[in-house]
Amino acid sequence: MSNKVRLTQMVTSAGCAAKIFPYILNDALKDIKWYQDENVMVGFSGNDDAGVYRLSDELALIQTTDFFTPVVDDPYTYGMIAAANSLSDVYAMGGNPINALNIVAFPQKEDLSILKEILAGGADKAREAKCSIVGGHSVDIANILYGLAVTGTAHPNNIKGNDSAKAGDVLILTKGLGTGVLNNSVKYANPEQSDINGLIASMSRLNRNASELMVKYGASACTDVTGFGLAGHSMQMAKASKVVLNFNISNLPVLQGAMKAIREKQLTRGDKSNRIYTQDFVTNKGTVDTEKDHLLYDPQTSGGLLISIEEIKAEKLLAEIRDGGDEIAGIVGFVTESNNDCKSGSIVFNF
Ligand code: CO
Ligand code: CO
Repeated sequence: MSNKVRLTQMVTSAGCAAKIFPYILNDALKDIKWYQDENVMVGFSGNDDAGVYRLSDELALIQTTDFFTPVVDDPYTYGMIAAANSLSDVYAMGGNPINALNIVAFPQKEDLSILKEILAGGADKAREAKCSIVGGHSVDIANILYGLAVTGTAHPNNIKGNDSAKAGDVLILTKGLGTGVLNNSVKYANPEQSDINGLIASMSRLNRNASELMVKYGASACTDVTGFGLAGHSMQMAKASKVVLNFNISNLPVLQGAMKAIREKQLTRGDKSNRIYTQDFVTNKGTVDTEKDHLLYDPQTSGGLLISIEEIKAEKLLAEIRDGGDEIAGIVGFVTESNNDCKSGSIVFNF
């Protein structure tokens, strides 16, 4: 790709690290009265991954959209990652993606073969997911953006929201943390090629296998870990479920090279905003490892699923998830009731 423009140099912040800060977004959303009829099963209220609409007692529609600026320089790879990330919110709800629309922004004065490769990457990822691309929308602006608006289906009883984690559950995380710092490292430092390969493999991997398995095992709740980091998405789950999520920091899966990127201070702006977002709900126990601490707030692009499931089923589910190719997956914590020490919605990080 050396003869081409470096896609990541054309944008100010990459991937899910470019999200509008949640407290700013919440301000903009708060006084608006959205029309929602009685078939809306999941709407704005719980910060869930996707909207869910009941079509019948047997069928629910799951809808979501995600798009972002380039996270890698290779346009085809960027297309794959953006599509995998968009599909993930359907998987996080326990759904099966059926079709999608392309969402594209591209400066048309640039080399159009770049656009073609981005779309081809998205098309191949959607094919892998057996999700039909049925159309799209494009605009000619200075920044490159790509993603999908995805429609999925599920049985209404199998929808996995973030509001049903239960005290006594354990928590499984299916992908390694550190995509934010590693993406910055690719942009500003000089990481090992093997670290870059691992990063790309993780971001372009579908969450399909883990999703199907957590539905099969009857998980209590699920979300995917993306722009708000482990802390942010855990807080959303803890708040919506009215429980406390506890994490054992030493058990967290970490992408190869991520700790090196942290030591090299390749932190994103999301690290700061995710701390502000979660600060009233985080309790640290033990001696804080100031390097690993950054993993908790690192915005993830196309991150893994955070699954809450009864302890008795967890080992078997984890074994199957690993067998299916998410070898890095692990049991990372447990769910407790709120008490005087920890209010509902809290997350506890045990160092
Ligand atoms: Co999500
Ligand atoms: Co999303």
